[in-house]
Order: sequence, then structure tokens, then C-alpha cells
Amino acid sequence: MYVESIRVKNFRNYHNQTINFKNGMNILIGPNGIGKTNLLEALYLLSTTRSHRNNDEKEIIKFNEEFAAVEGIVVNKFGTDKLDVIIHKRGKTLSVNNVLVKKNSEFIGKLNAVLFSPNDMDLFDSSPRDRRRLIDMEMGKLSRAYMFNLSNYLKYLKQRNAYLKQPKVDDVMLETYTELLFNPQIQIIKERNSFINSLNAYLSYFYSEISGNKNKLQIVYKSFIKEKNNDELMKKEMKKTYESIKERDLILKQTNIGIHREDYEFYLNNMNVSKYCSQGQKRMVILALKLSIVQIIYQIKREYPILLLDDVFSELDGEHRICLLRLLPNSVQTIITTTDLREVNLIRRQDVNVIKIGKGMMNNG
Ligand SMILES: Nc1ncnc2c1ncn2[C@@H]1O[C@H](COP(=O)(O)OP(=O)(O)OP(=O)(O)O)[C@@H](O)[C@H]1O
Ligand SMILES: [Mg+2]
Repeated sequence: MYVESIRVKNFRNYHNQTINFKNGMNILIGPNGIGKTNLLEALYLLSTTRSHRNNDEKEIIKFNEEFAAVEGIVVNKFGTDKLDVIIHKRGKTLSVNNVLVKKNSEFIGKLNAVLFSPNDMDLFDSSPRDRRRLIDMEMGKLSRAYMFNLSNYLKYLKQRNAYLKQPKVDDVMLETYTELLFNPQIQIIKERNSFINSLNAYLSYFYSEISGNKNKLQIVYKSFIKEKNNDELMKKEMKKTYESIKERDLILKQTNIGIHREDYEFYLNNMNVSKYCSQGQKRMVILALKLSIVQIIYQIKREYPILLLDDVFSELDGEHRICLLRLLPNSVQTIITTTDLREVNLIRRQDVNVIKIGKGMMNNG
């Protein structure tokens, strides 16, 4: 799929602006603070209904305005869709082809996008929560069953935690709450394993291509119990594990194990990425991860998502930039932001659409 154009209205620093894209490679170029990331944010909003920057979406509304709007024309394998997101001070409206949609799920997926943002670098410094969030988000877009199991699990977890906070906790009752956690977790662990295995099948290839050397990049999923062929065996092991931490749960009045506490570790040539890798290496790891996700989306949806690369060149040296630019497939619509024309000149292929962002914007098509 690809985005033909977007129109942003009262969106951050934009008053009213239309930008046309090409299917293939597009480069948004302009000085710091001019509004390049804002455009990727607008595209991401059309894809997920959310901003990648923060949770308070009202910040998107241009200062002193009442609402912000993004309209996108998206061409996919079924035809063309017009997507609209309007953010008001009081909420959000979504529509597809001028028809209002009530559920986010009816909107999400009309435009699939994979975004690389400099904020992704936090993935290696921050708590497991951010790593889980990233993987959960990507998996949720691909599997309704995963979303369903995850939201069920979170509901049961909340109930168990609330029960643990009661002044008197009954053993049998607690066991009932505990057992509700088993089924969704078994499914989630299986799906997480299978997703990580799919990623691992691509990661080394992409990392090696970007870095220009043969490398091994793998994610290790640290599930709190091991996956087995038999669900009953998994249940038994879970039961034992919950029994063994029961005292701790009672003292701390919360559930101390489960899929909400798991982590993913990244290893580059058997070296823990968080602990040992340089900034440039981390950046290449994230890029390899995002490019792998693009492939997995293609495998499942039989259609490529669009790829949004924000400020991807900083911290990559010239050689690695060229490797990356060569690697980006023409079949994937790619939108890259940069401040520096030298990057563009490195690969100045005929099919690159250079879009200058600035006063009196001009699309060089
Ligand atoms: N709600 C808002 N209303 C008006 N302007 C805003 C709003 N939010 C952000 N801006 C403006 O948007 C600009 C930042 O845009 P953006 O982050 O897209 O820049 P950029 O081109 O990506 O820069 P860099 O190259 O530094 O990453 C700032 O000038 C900021 O003042
Ligand atoms: Mg930016």
C-alpha cells in the first residue's frame, strides 16, 4: 500500500498544507524545527489513531486553534480509501471514505505503517515495560486473538490484584482468581514465541546488510514459564509457580509474576545490546527490527506497510547510510526525514521524491 497524499489542518505548526507522496522513496528535507517529524506523526496518526510522541493528543492541535485534522488518501490492494482523523479538545473522530467509524478497530489497519523514531533508542535503556509495549503493539496489529487474550488477561490481573488488597484473603477464592490467568497467558506465551521466532528469522539478515558485515542478531524472549506442546503441562507448571510466590503476592498485595512482567533481550553476536553496544549499533539493531517487522506484515497481510524513518541518518556513518539506502526496497513506500542534502545526493536515484519542508513549501516530485 501507499499514501498518495496527506492534508494537515491546524496540525502542530501547520495551518493548512497538502503533501503529495510517490510510491517508492520520499525524502522530507528541511532545517531543525520546521515540521518534518510532525508530518510523520500525522501519517502515524492515520495508521494507529495515536501519536507516537505522547499520550496527550491535544498537544497536536495548533496553538490557539480548536481542532486538528489529518486527511490521507491511501491506495491499497482493494482500492483507494480516504481516511480522516479529527482531534478536538474533547475527543477524536475517525472516518473512512466520509463515513464515521465508531470503533478504533474499524479504522486501524486501513493504513499499515512501521515507524522508526529516534525515541525508539530508549528501548535499550528503559524498563522491560517499553520493550513489551513495542512487541505487544506490533503483535496486536497483526493478531486479533492476541489483542483479545491480552485484554482478557489484563482484566483478570486487575481483579486478582484488587482481591489481594482486600483485608482478608481467602485461599480458595484467590486460587479461582489465579486460575483465570492461565488460559490467556498460555496463548500469549505461544504467540510471543512464534512472533519472536519469525523476527529472528530476519534480524541477522537485515543487520548484516545495514552494517555491511556478517552479524548475528537475535531476540531472546524470557517467558516466565517455558512453552510446551501440551497446554495442560503448561497449566500445571503455572499453578506450581503461582503457589511458590503466593506468600510474596500476599505481602506485597500484587501479582508478582506473569506475562506482564516478562522481558525481551537483544543479542548482537551473543553480546547484550543494552549493555555493550554503541549508539550507532543500537540504531542499526532498531532498524533491523523495523525492517523485519515490515517483512512479517507482508507475510501475513500479503501487502507491504509504509515505512516512516525519522532522522535515521544521524549516528550512522556515510558507509552505513549508503548500505541502508540501498537496502530499502522499492516496493515499500518509504518516507525519510533529513536535514542534510548530502544524504540525498548519496543515493540520488531518479525515483527519489524530494519534498522541501519550509516556508512556501514546494514539492519537487
Ligand atoms: N501544537 C503546536 N502548535 C504550533 N506549533 C507546534 C505545536 N507543536 C509543535 N509545534 C512546532 O513544531 C515544530 C517542531 O516540528 P518538528 O518536530 O516536526 O520539527 P523537525 O523538522 O522534525 O525538526 P528536527 O530536524 O529538529 O527533528 C516546532 O517549531 C514547534 O514549535
Ligand atoms: Mg524531527
